[in-house]
Amino acid sequence: SSIANKMNSSLGRTIKTVTVIGGGLMGSGIAQVAAETNHQVIIVDQKQEFLDKSLNIIQTSLKRIIKKKFEQDQQGGEKYFNDVKNRIKTTTNINDAVQSTDIVIEAIIENLETKQKLFKQIDQVAPKHTILTSNTSSLPITEIAKDVQRQDKFGGLHFFNPVPVMKLLEVIRISGTSDETFQTLLNFGKALGKTTVSCKDTPGFIVNRLLVPYLLEAARMIERGDATPEDIDTAMKLGAGYPMGPIELLDYVGLDTSKYIVDGWKKLYPNEPSFQASELLNKIVGEGKFGRKTGAGFYNYKK
Ligand code: NAI
Repeated sequence: SSIANKMNSSLGRTIKTVTVIGGGLMGSGIAQVAAETNHQVIIVDQKQEFLDKSLNIIQTSLKRIIKKKFEQDQQGGEKYFNDVKNRIKTTTNINDAVQSTDIVIEAIIENLETKQKLFKQIDQVAPKHTILTSNTSSLPITEIAKDVQRQDKFGGLHFFNPVPVMKLLEVIRISGTSDETFQTLLNFGKALGKTTVSCKDTPGFIVNRLLVPYLLEAARMIERGDATPEDIDTAMKLGAGYPMGPIELLDYVGLDTSKYIVDGWKKLYPNEPSFQASELLNKIVGEGKFGRKTGAGFYNYKK
């Protein structure tokens, strides 16, 4: 089997240049990790101010990493910082950004039509060899790729927040994805320092398919008055060995994000019992409490 693995991994191409579209929370992290692992990176966003913000996020994160990694070596740390920074360019012009890139990783807002439109445009201007991928959390990759000619060079790369910290990368192939593209994506994931898993183009892939219904059931437990948020979190941390309880995790992920994912799934798969909404979650979101990022969710974070 080791020979088979070798033959497989030599099937893929090597990715050198990476275009990240959408420099938000996820795009910034993906760009940073790609640059840290010696790839040339271009970040695209709609406005220069978003790109500036993205570079700021990356620099703050890099400084934190360097503090640990180069504790006794200030010069080495400065060199690392500058080398990584110099591998990252930014632009608001998508056509320029994909002109000579090996791979596009899309991390824009979670909206099917917007993503479809974007890929249709990229498909027309990117070189023939360029692989196109989406970091979507909840939309079918097959649907996102609907208007793209190069079905053989399309796939899903699903990263986890925060990207520089989380070790997992889900690699998703659609029916048209070629073996070469799939292997290139697996190799690329490894080059990024991630552990890859793969699965079919199925809602939520592996992690969110299991995690989101569990988080919602925790919210419904509170809704039914079965247990308090504190007891649910303590129970899963000490009884199941999870590093965070489900209610803490909901607040961390963002209640708006969780609601958005479930609402989308419910529309696509109305009969799936594990994709049913939580009224309590909807109510809290309706009050503008989205979790940690807004200072309140199930818990209060205001000091
Ligand atoms: P975000 O809102 O932080 O960032 C999105 C960025 O895309 C913004 O900077 C926005 O200006 C930009 N953008 C929007 N439309 C654009 C367009 N047409 N062209 C160029 N840039 C555009 O969102 P976030 O959280 O980074 O999510 C991005 C994607 O990653 C979504 O598809 C989401 O489902 C997925 N994802 C999110 C995770 C999370 O924990 N937040 C985890 C894994 C995947």
